Amino acid sequence: MLQAHVLPAEPVGTIAPEKTREGIDVQINGEHFRHTGDPQMPLLWYLRDVLRLTGTKYGGEHGGNGADLVLVEDKAVSAISLAMHALAGKSVTTVEGLAASDGGLHPLQQAFIDEDAIGCGYCTPGWLIAGAALLRRKPKPGDDDIDQLPNLCRCGCQTRVRRAIKRAAAGKAGQP
Ligand code: FES
Repeated sequence: MLQAHVLPAEPVGTIAPEKTREGIDVQINGEHFRHTGDPQMPLLWYLRDVLRLTGTKYGGEHGGNGADLVLVEDKAVSAISLAMHALAGKSVTTVEGLAASDGGLHPLQQAFIDEDAIGCGYCTPGWLIAGAALLRRKPKPGDDDIDQLPNLCRCGCQTRVRRAIKRAAAGKAGQP
């Protein structure tokens, strides 16, 4: 015979009813955030307008020139092309998160300084992210690997950027 399930009058122990929490949980540069706004909001606007992380640049409404690249997990992706709803539970690293927690520069950042690979600087964050993703999947990239990155530099720094990425790959960032 079926027995009626009798609910206790009070919550049991420390377990209390909890409403469904709305929002998109995402980790950015090691910190946890919940986005409760429009799920279609591009990640780029969330970074720049909500978190005020302005290192990632606008590179056009479809991206494509690398200025708006961020790392999602270990992959470089265009932040303007990625809606917040696609990031639930994901980990994002922006250029602000490349440096070590003690403030020490990422080897690529140091190598860009060493090789004077920065002109106006608009494209630089994107190059750093693309370079970091490249070095993770190919620790010793050749010129072709670097030339295939989607990034553009209107200041004409490509040759020095190439040298900087190869310097970082060789472990010579910060050396004469
Ligand atoms: S340094 Fe100016 S666009 Fe690359």
